[in-house]
Amino acid sequence: MLGWFAHPIFVNGDYPAILKDQVEQKKTACPDSVPAKLPVFTPTESQRILGTADFFGLNHYTSRLVSNSNGGCTPGPDSVGDFNATVDPTWSSTASDWIYPVPWGLRRLLNYISTEYLNVNKLPIYITGNGMPTDYSVDSLTDTSRMDYMRSYINEALKATLTDGVNVQRFTVQSLMDGFEANQGYSQRFGLHYVNFEVGSRPRTPKQSAYLYAEIIEQNGFSSQKSKKFKAAERPLTRRLAALPPSEVPSQAKVVWEKFSSQSNFDRKMYHYGTFPEGFSWGISSSAYQIEGGWNADGKGPSIWDTFTQTTDTIPDKANGNVACESYNRLNEDLYMLRALRVKSYRFSLSWSRIFPDGTRKSLNQKGVDYYNRLIDGLIAYNIEPIVTIYHWDLPEALQKVYDWDKAEMIDIFNDYCDFCFATFGDRVKFWITINQPQTIGWSGYGLGNMPPNVKDPGYRPYIVAHNLIKAHAKAYHTYDDKYRQSQGGLISIALNADWAEPKDVSIRREVVAADRAMQFQLGWFAHPIFKNGDYPDALKWQVGNKSEIQGFPQSRLPSFTEEEKNFIKGTADVFCVNHYTTKIVSHITARLSPESYEYDWDFKEEEENDSPTTAIPNQKVVAWGLRRLLNWIKEEYGDPEIYITENGVATEAQTTWDDSDRVFFYKAYIDEALKAYELDGVTVKGYIATSLMDSFEWLNGYKVGFGLHHVDFSNPNRSRTPKYSAHFYYNIIKDNGFPFFAHLETEILARSSLQNSSSSVRLDGQRL
Ligand code: NOJ
Repeated sequence: MLGWFAHPIFVNGDYPAILKDQVEQKKTACPDSVPAKLPVFTPTESQRILGTADFFGLNHYTSRLVSNSNGGCTPGPDSVGDFNATVDPTWSSTASDWIYPVPWGLRRLLNYISTEYLNVNKLPIYITGNGMPTDYSVDSLTDTSRMDYMRSYINEALKATLTDGVNVQRFTVQSLMDGFEANQGYSQRFGLHYVNFEVGSRPRTPKQSAYLYAEIIEQNGFSSQKSKKFKAAERPLTRRLAALPPSEVPSQAKVVWEKFSSQSNFDRKMYHYGTFPEGFSWGISSSAYQIEGGWNADGKGPSIWDTFTQTTDTIPDKANGNVACESYNRLNEDLYMLRALRVKSYRFSLSWSRIFPDGTRKSLNQKGVDYYNRLIDGLIAYNIEPIVTIYHWDLPEALQKVYDWDKAEMIDIFNDYCDFCFATFGDRVKFWITINQPQTIGWSGYGLGNMPPNVKDPGYRPYIVAHNLIKAHAKAYHTYDDKYRQSQGGLISIALNADWAEPKDVSIRREVVAADRAMQFQLGWFAHPIFKNGDYPDALKWQVGNKSEIQGFPQSRLPSFTEEEKNFIKGTADVFCVNHYTTKIVSHITARLSPESYEYDWDFKEEEENDSPTTAIPNQKVVAWGLRRLLNWIKEEYGDPEIYITENGVATEAQTTWDDSDRVFFYKAYIDEALKAYELDGVTVKGYIATSLMDSFEWLNGYKVGFGLHHVDFSNPNRSRTPKYSAHFYYNIIKDNGFPFFAHLETEILARSSLQNSSSSVRLDGQRL
């Protein structure tokens, strides 16, 4: 079987002597019905055949036990060769009737080839195909038989290489994905990726064998050694932000409405082609509670989200994050997705109570630290920058019980946790976000009370909590600045959430002032102290102060900072990190005085933008042009900081699995608006982080909606992850660094040719008509 072809090419330009002898013998033995005829090479042909390979390419799948027999006069290799090939009944079978896993056969074969064919020419062997099929219908994503097969075959190749000195230089697993399998059609699946042939877009889901193979490749074999620590890429130092004078009322940033609000609908939706600056940070995000699961694994302490979800009825299907995407046990799967997407950064958060189960250093849980070390090393090994959020809402329950964010003691406790994180991970983490969306913590956690710790105290507690969060952030910033910046050279900021507020009528000053107030109450509440002068915006101070006075309070419900505190707080962020999802139409109202509430302190009302598509979350419409205005507003208001969009994404219903064209439309439109802000308006946009890596526990919406670029099958114990259409789309945006005009032309040509063949109603720029 092998020598028939290998002998002429690798040995002497002619068939093996044994083959020729057998054929000759049969001529004599079977004069009436010669079973085989062997043509003869001329000497010139032999010369031209010999040596026509630069390597020995070997496809190998199985072995046979061979015994001597008399094949008689029947045509065929076995009978002409006078041998009998059988299988050992103890060998396991596969979906193929001829493939039996016999890994040790490979080692012997490699040795045979090496001696027989490569002794003189010293060419290397490339294993060009090795794999096994499973049944079409019973193939599961947990393909343990394939994993066993792969592990042991690769191991035999390793033995041949290391122990026997055979020169094996490549190993090729058959195959990338399930496909058309010659005579078997689709009845056998060889793939390391499962292909859903029932769905038009043929979604591909990595099987467990894909993750195993990725690990073997990463280790370059089977390494029992602990992975080495990786060194992070150097990050250029950013310029320190200067403190700024306080904002006027309305802020000077109102120029943004003056500039943009008169845009026609057409201008507003005009598509812009171009690219982001070189080195633009394209990322994707997640957060610990939303994806990790393992809620009490390896000594992790409970967080307030564990307690809340396990004891409440308010989340759809009583969902919780006990298992979620199981990222705690599926790190390889997460890294696999990130690598395939080719993102430059991954924004994830640390679970405080996984590291410190009771919230403080004395309870340190090394296993939790190990998990994050593995994640960080895994990212850096593939040049993906870790962007680490230290605290994304999941406060350790133990701290909640004793201190809570309304107590100033939390500032030092948080600082010590941050200090530990800087010291432990800071040699590799160069981008820190102290707190995610403090406005959500203050308002949803302590005002509305719909998120843990479910305190319903809308008039006071949000302000007190925010006050402590700002101080806690500033303290952590100084700890980094004083103790770590010089040796670690990273940057540190806070992720603030901001909707865009568009005045209902831009020609009425009062409405513009109301929109500006909306920006200040949500974003300026935190950004003003940190990026301007260490103090709250006047808009907040006036509103809350005046209302408090009328309500009969001796002092404002908005706490105030001392001069010392202001100096400590101002300038405590190296870059501006903003999470953005939607836009609201804002108009002035005079709100009620009672009960006291942050919400009534605003004196404005919000409406949805009429002309925009809805999403799976009722108050989050797709209003892409709001992002451009928001970025311009930040530039004007905060002195042209470097801006990272640290979250932007859209929810689709859980039933939307792979074909998420709504999300593709969202990203196309929103990223284009960020591009306009960068290219047309000169806003310093340095990075964009799509939310989120995969469908996950979506807080109060449970698993009813998904933000993921990867679908997660929550009914499958593997929590299998499948790229959605949006993942492919985002991959291309990253590859092109935006929307270059030439890529557009290619799309146009493709679209033209497909339009000739279909009646699809898609405009050439990809938008639906
Ligand atoms: C903001 C939060 O930071 C994030 O965790 C969440 O997934 C998104 N909003 C979407 O709701």
